[in-house]
Amino acid sequence: MIDGFVSQVSLSKLMKYKPRAEWSIRPVGGIHGMAHMTRVLIWTQVLAQMVRDEGMTVDADALAWASVIHDTQRWSDGRDRQHGERAAAWLEDHREDFPESMPVEQIVYLCRWHVPDDNLAPEMTDDLKVFKDSDGLDRWRIFDLDKRHLRTAAAHRALQASHDLWNATRRITSPDIFETVLNAALRQGIIGE
Ligand SMILES: [Fe+2]
Ligand SMILES: [Fe+2]
Repeated sequence: MIDGFVSQVSLSKLMKYKPRAEWSIRPVGGIHGMAHMTRVLIWTQVLAQMVRDEGMTVDADALAWASVIHDTQRWSDGRDRQHGERAAAWLEDHREDFPESMPVEQIVYLCRWHVPDDNLAPEMTDDLKVFKDSDGLDRWRIFDLDKRHLRTAAAHRALQASHDLWNATRRITSPDIFETVLNAALRQGIIGE
């Protein structure tokens, strides 16, 4: 639950972004795996709604697809500075596996530039700010969330909720990781049905 925020993000709509295990080079567990990408998906959709109050315009569909692709091409859980570049290239190579309406160029941009520092991106678009903040809101899992790095007021408002969601989903034993994380968000009032 986020104070003063009425979620219009619905679990049933998020289901269409369910990533396939075979998209990822490595097993779907781990700190950059399915649970992480599902929480990032949730935060992109919540922040996409919230940042309207800050006068920002974002593409929720592009943000959603980037969430479930951005860390799939990691070779390791270490720094691996090229994994965003690889995720972008992977999407371009697998274009035909995704809906035709997908905003590929925007998703490629988000995947490519989610890794480097903000000042290195050609343009720090509203989409990229929201994407990096959503990824940042899941840094509880590596005990390295520094709120001074968050770019939007919305992400600051979501800090406690992001901690609660991470805490409830940090050790998932069921094989249905995606559904388990979405259901936890539903129970916590972060998303609706
Ligand atoms: Fe990443
Ligand atoms: Fe990530």
